[in-house]
Amino acid sequence: MDISGYLASCREKIDSFLSEWIPPAAGPHGKIYEAVSYSLFAGGKRIRPILSLAACELVDGSEEQALAGGCAVELIHTYSLLHDDLPCMDDDDFRRGKPSCHRKFDEATAVLAGDALQAMAFELICTRVSPPERAARMAGILARAAGPEGMVGGQILDLLYETRPCSLEELHTLHAMKTGALISAAVALGAASGSCSTDEEERLSRFARTLGLLFQVVDDMLDETGSFEKTGKTSGKDAAAHKSTFVTLMGLEKAAAYRDTLAEKAHKTLDFFGERATILKAITEFIRSRDH
Ligand code: IPE
Ligand code: IPE
Ligand code: MG
Ligand code: MG
Ligand code: MG
Repeated sequence: MDISGYLASCREKIDSFLSEWIPPAAGPHGKIYEAVSYSLFAGGKRIRPILSLAACELVDGSEEQALAGGCAVELIHTYSLLHDDLPCMDDDDFRRGKPSCHRKFDEATAVLAGDALQAMAFELICTRVSPPERAARMAGILARAAGPEGMVGGQILDLLYETRPCSLEELHTLHAMKTGALISAAVALGAASGSCSTDEEERLSRFARTLGLLFQVVDDMLDETGSFEKTGKTSGKDAAAHKSTFVTLMGLEKAAAYRDTLAEKAHKTLDFFGERATILKAITEFIRSRDH
């Protein structure tokens, strides 16, 4: 299938949904919308809402509802990056090829823009998802993935393992939480836009957990091998900050072999769905071979 065409058409839908939803930067507090929009429209890959749309197609769900859920994940993801780049965390001057939010504005604005994005994610679900039971379910999935048992918990482990070495098992937990949780939420919210059996839901969730791990293994590899022109981020930061990553723990070669094993496992989990999983399989390949 033409995956680049599919990704481009999803990105168009996602960008127009978000730009229609985010208010213009008006009023004395307009600066917060400037910072939010600056980061949100900086050219991210939109892989999370794309996964929601693909999962929605697999379960034949409502695209409008999946877009709302997927874009809510994108808002949380963007907030996580604003905070991740702050001097007290990874101290990164660039994001998506542009000065990171605290460099473009200032630290306080970047903290507040992150806070705003988090609140806006839940407002989006509450106002755009129906019936209310589905909105409550989606909000619960997202809150758990974003919070101390998900992304935030993973970020604290990421900082902890800068100060002491971690085992491979601990690294798996870290990756599953800091990156895997939001990727799993994106797939689960897409699936929640329609209906599927408990068995199908469990298989999709297993697929998403593997994909989340795969995504962060590739991110770790790109930190070592990627170029600023492609990734829009400064390379070599993980090793310099004594981060625990698959590359710093296993070396590049073993990390690449593990990446391929994970991609294979993701495909196998999807085999059950037959033709319905064609798009998710193509997205898996995109993630495995991405250079940005
Ligand atoms: C980067 O995520 C941070 C990780 C969780 C690895 P992406 O690579 O999806 O970043 P954007 O959204 O495309 O900028
Ligand atoms: C970030 O992981 C994960 C989250 C923001 C939750 P990284 O610190 O590896 O992401 P990059 O490399 O800065 O994008
Ligand atoms: Mg980080
Ligand atoms: Mg970082
Ligand atoms: Mg990284």
